[in-house]
Amino acid sequence: MRIISPSILAADFGNLGRDVAMLNESRAEWIHFDVMDGVFVPNISFGFPVLQSVRSATEKVLDVHLMIVDPIRYVKRFAEAGADIITFHYEATENPRECIAAIREAGARVGISIKPATDVSVLGELLKEIDMVLVMSVEPGFGGQSFIESSLDKISRLKGMILESGADCLIEVDGGISERNAASIFAAGADVLVAGSSVFKAAEPESEILKMLEAK
Ligand code: DX5
Ligand code: ZN
Repeated sequence: MRIISPSILAADFGNLGRDVAMLNESRAEWIHFDVMDGVFVPNISFGFPVLQSVRSATEKVLDVHLMIVDPIRYVKRFAEAGADIITFHYEATENPRECIAAIREAGARVGISIKPATDVSVLGELLKEIDMVLVMSVEPGFGGQSFIESSLDKISRLKGMILESGADCLIEVDGGISERNAASIFAAGADVLVAGSSVFKAAEPESEILKMLEAK
């Protein structure tokens, strides 16, 4: 499985309709939506009005990444605003199962994200209860950072856990990804690659997406 999920955090917000129209024509199957609250991460991005606008401009899967504290407060509203997948941070809640249930109740698919310092072992039993793990290959909070190379080993270990458990769970990787490292990340076991700056800063974003999909 190879999916590219461009992060609109790196898009031109003065021309968001144009950038979403470009994604609609591209081979990206998902659109990644980075929500930051200024508390869980030292940055603030965007929320419901922007998600609603993007929802009305595309049929693509909206892959919402919540970098917010106590995410359960808002999962219903993100689902209502158009999220197809809602991913919360393992580190942002005392009760992941409560968040999982709330996202399911809201009718969205469930992802759990782990920061670089969080080991995949914390996910153990949860793998069978979720649809996706989002492995952060940069510290969450900002686009344009460099890929943390040790993420490759982490992805492989997670892939082994998923295969051993029989869980039907995708691996998404997020941060510092481009056509230069896409092949090694897919080879390590990733199914979905998030790419922000490498897509939106590219002279030809659609071909950057294609190069990542076809990377060998
Ligand atoms: C960082 C976000 C990432 C980021 C990716 O906190 O979760 O999705 O926008 O941006 P690039 O691809 O520029 O690293
Ligand atoms: Zn993200």
